[in-house]
Amino acid sequence: MTNLDIGRFEVEYEQPACSTRHAWARVPVEPSPQQRQELKDHIRRLLKEKNAVMVSHYYVHPDLQDLAEETGGLVSDSLEMARFGRDHPATTLVVSGVRFMGETAKILSPEKTVLMPDLDATCSLDLGCPIDAFSAYCDAHPDRTVVVYANTSAAVKARADWLVTSSCALDIVQALKDKGHKILWAPDKHLGGYIQRATGADMLFWEGSCIVHDEFKAFELESLMREHPGAKVLVHPESPAEVVALAHAVGSTSAILRAAKELDATEFIVATDKGMLHKLRTLNPDKRFIEAPTAGNSATCKSCAHCPWMAMNGLAGVAHALESGSGQVHVEPGLIPRARLPIDRMLAFTSSLKQGIAPGSLVPDIGAA
Ligand code: 13P
Ligand code: SF4
Repeated sequence: MTNLDIGRFEVEYEQPACSTRHAWARVPVEPSPQQRQELKDHIRRLLKEKNAVMVSHYYVHPDLQDLAEETGGLVSDSLEMARFGRDHPATTLVVSGVRFMGETAKILSPEKTVLMPDLDATCSLDLGCPIDAFSAYCDAHPDRTVVVYANTSAAVKARADWLVTSSCALDIVQALKDKGHKILWAPDKHLGGYIQRATGADMLFWEGSCIVHDEFKAFELESLMREHPGAKVLVHPESPAEVVALAHAVGSTSAILRAAKELDATEFIVATDKGMLHKLRTLNPDKRFIEAPTAGNSATCKSCAHCPWMAMNGLAGVAHALESGSGQVHVEPGLIPRARLPIDRMLAFTSSLKQGIAPGSLVPDIGAA
């Protein structure tokens, strides 16, 4: 990892901490219908006892999505998970997703207990952006405003000026560009490339990628589109540019849900984690959703369109965390105020947008970030 000078950075995600192989080996066994019911009832009781609420991502097991909603919690994209966790009065948050989601919740609510079913559930983007190398990269480009994706460690967030998720990256980068900022973007090169093409911003990229979305294949997608000529293609922007180019709608997990509802079609090809299919099918029972092709038929597929770290979350893990207090997310207290700054900026920017207030004034002129 020494090629800082050319603004490109080779990353490793098969690290010993929890490689994809280890993650797959730790995916919980499917409970029987009776076990599932018992676990759900047990979790319902524990949530009440512990004044806790569930916050689940769209990519986790359907049981964890449904139970979150049935018990007054949330299933959503990473942006709304952060906002909900911060604003909910529960004193314990049970975050089903990957580690950066639990860390973001803890940074925003240090006084709350944040539990995860498996603390080793990580993300290739987070693994591929270690703080020391990232910090050196920022030092080498002091004229650039540092914009990082939510899928990063607390330490990387603490080095950033702005945080973004896929649902607000376009608006935030556009606003920064309009104020004259040149951007250092990390870690997802595909999302960064998509934002650059859409905004024309001056961006320097870290070379990270999501192992799930990186595997979608344009050539195979085109042939599937020929088999389903009426189908609309929904793509998460963590996918390669050639796949994004074939999309009828590109966006975050929530944007994909909106597009499935609003686009005039009965068939959709979906290029994102297959965990999304649960919500897509539940909300659109009369529409058909087909998985976009990955490298799944070759030996190189690490995810086959399902994130191995998201798959580590299960009902038994939630019950165990609530019962024993294990799986507590800790963030180094000294990092919290600085890591919170870019998250707060993002949440203020997006809530202005939601209220129809132009958020431009929240973006400083160049030199003041
Ligand atoms: P969303 O922000 O679209 O939910 O995506 C986050 C992510 O990468 C989950 O893996
Ligand atoms: Fe990270 Fe990709 Fe998994 Fe999301 S789907 S947690 S971006 S590896």
